[in-house]
Amino acid sequence: MRIDILTVLPKLLESPFNDSILKRAIEKKLVEVHIHNIRDYSTQNQKQVDDYQFGGGAGMVMTIQPIADCIDKLQSERTYDEIIYMTPDGEQFNQATANTLSLKENIIILCGHYKGVDQRIRDHYITKEISIGDYVLSGGELAAAVVSDAIIRLLPGVLNDESSALTDSFQDNLLAPPVYTRPADYKGWKVPEILLSGHEKKIEDWRHEQAIERTKQRRPDLLDENEK
Ligand code: ADE
Repeated sequence: MRIDILTVLPKLLESPFNDSILKRAIEKKLVEVHIHNIRDYSTQNQKQVDDYQFGGGAGMVMTIQPIADCIDKLQSERTYDEIIYMTPDGEQFNQATANTLSLKENIIILCGHYKGVDQRIRDHYITKEISIGDYVLSGGELAAAVVSDAIIRLLPGVLNDESSALTDSFQDNLLAPPVYTRPADYKGWKVPEILLSGHEKKIEDWRHEQAIERTKQRRPDLLDENEK
């Protein structure tokens, strides 16, 4: 898979891809991540990437030209499955969208800034608009990092234990059950007996019950009618 991220603040995206699981995924060539500085594509003398709003109003708008030129260049080199715009008025990101996007070959993610991009970019290039939640960030970069992380960890071979993404919260619309590690008794705080029993089937049943219980308590909206 290849992810191209278009931004006016490329530095903001350096560290998320330079550590831990994402760094390893890139090193193992399971994913290619290319960060493009939109400013490099500006044909203006001052490399300007924004301008005042038509009609007046506070805040600058990202101009069409540098973004369009950058996307045109990328599209002349390969076919993209999605061109995503990160914006608080997009569809809310969730595990189902992460799963779907992890199956794509090439995606572009455009990070918005200031008041956002000229609407004509959204009308003519963007195929999907994603929000990571009902709050406003200073730009789309952190949101793009969140979406990329959620996608990349699902790619085969990225996580050491292949089954571990399958047992994440949300993968079956249930939150994950509680987990414990050594010591089995910390100052009298004991690990549930069942986990020490060695009965695989009983442990699996217990985890499923706990997952349902936790989901009922915290996120009843995730449960089917018959599980409530
Ligand atoms: N840009 C600013 N806020 C955002 C959000 N909540 N989700 C995605 N992109 C954003």
